[in-house]
Amino acid sequence: MEDMLEDTVLVNLRINGRLHELEIPAHKSLLDLLREDLNLTGTHMGCMTGHCGACTVSIDGRVAKSCITLAATLGRAKITTIEGLTQDDGTLSALQQAFWDNAGFQCGYCAPGMLLCTVELLETNPDPSDADIDTALAGNLCRCTGYQSIRRAVKAAITTTKEGAPQAAE
Ligand code: FES
Ligand code: FES
Repeated sequence: MEDMLEDTVLVNLRINGRLHELEIPAHKSLLDLLREDLNLTGTHMGCMTGHCGACTVSIDGRVAKSCITLAATLGRAKITTIEGLTQDDGTLSALQQAFWDNAGFQCGYCAPGMLLCTVELLETNPDPSDADIDTALAGNLCRCTGYQSIRRAVKAAITTTKEGAPQAAE
């Protein structure tokens, strides 16, 4: 048992565009790898059981809960964390700005899941209905109960994308 816990696996992860060759203990979660080893603390630790969404990242273009993902299983995956959503010059993306402008961030604990799930939604459905937005974000708990503000922020981001300028959403 002790030997098993000490096993390591070599992976080559591209995280937010940067290649990391890492020797990872077989039992280490992606969440712990990001926070403890790579200092990417924007990915939050919540329930640790896959229920709250605070630890959400994107793995090869699909959202995933990093607390229940073993890092050693990821091989050569491309991972985007919330830190990877900013623009190249470090300023906020249109989506992040829309959250900021529409009170989509209160404490911000749910932000990783809310933002990354919205990115995935808008890649496949650029004009979602309210029901589509609610379904896409359903796996994320907002402890501040800011669901209305978050939906308003998503709609503002859609308007910004369509019209090229920030707009207040309905
Ligand atoms: S911390 Fe991963 S889903 Fe809650
Ligand atoms: S803004 Fe606080 S948990 Fe959602």
